[in-house]
Amino acid sequence: MAQVLVIGASRGIGHELARQYIDNGDRVIATVRRAEDRDGLLALGAAAVHLVDVAQPQSVSGLAWLLDGEKFDYAWYVAGVLDHQRSANPPTQQEFDRVMHTNLLGAMQALPQVAPMVEAAGGKFAFISSSMAQIGHVDNDHSWLYRCSKAALNMAVATAQHGWPGALLLTLDPGWVRTAMGGDSAPLSVEESVQGLRATLAGAQPADAGRLLHHNGTRADSW
Ligand SMILES: NC(=O)c1ccc[n+]([C@@H]2O[C@H](COP(=O)([O-])OP(=O)(O)OC[C@H]3O[C@@H](n4cnc5c(N)ncnc54)[C@H](OP(=O)(O)O)[C@@H]3O)[C@@H](O)[C@H]2O)c1
Repeated sequence: MAQVLVIGASRGIGHELARQYIDNGDRVIATVRRAEDRDGLLALGAAAVHLVDVAQPQSVSGLAWLLDGEKFDYAWYVAGVLDHQRSANPPTQQEFDRVMHTNLLGAMQALPQVAPMVEAAGGKFAFISSSMAQIGHVDNDHSWLYRCSKAALNMAVATAQHGWPGALLLTLDPGWVRTAMGGDSAPLSVEESVQGLRATLAGAQPADAGRLLHHNGTRADSW
């Protein structure tokens, strides 16, 4: 039975990760930001559900205390938000903070709190990134800020890998998935994407440390 942490499990990919691990008989601790999302996950069989708003530094800073004494074979930072800005318009400070705090600052705050718990199990810590972060594959200027936040996340994780050699840290691209964020036209169901993500993390090797992997297990050819 694996010990699993999912940060950002109220819906979409995070919720499905929690559901599939629970279905597999693993012990899952999840976080959500709203109290009303807690009961559904507890009913599914989550061992605990904590309230953490990753965009609020004071909230994320309580994570180590909430998780005191735990060890994780698999930890996931899934919480994320998208923007719809194009490069003709600079982001407002409010929009910059919304996207960067959720996708990057929250992850950089969670990382040093959770990584020791992953190291203690010799485990793996995955951060959900995106192929939209790959500088070698930019073919339009949609979601300018989101792309920057996920590219910075890739760098944050690749850098932090050196600080936590006893854990495997990596970023994962879930593909284009039918969630509230991905929309109805996305080719992948959330079930398919999450099956791939779980298998990819389980199969990740030391040579994958700090890298971006796709949900089908292939290594991204650029960051
Ligand atoms: N769907 C895709 O095609 C796709 C592609 C590439 C990457 N991704 C990435 O995959 C991850 C999950 O996305 P999704 O498709 O499942 O999107 P989603 O259905 O919109 O879910 C987003 C999740 O992030 C949580 N979240 C957002 N802000 C938060 C905050 N401040 N504190 C705590 N939780 C917060 C949401 O919680 P609330 O319910 O409280 O809002 C929700 O659980 C994201 O990092 C996203 O960037 C998705």
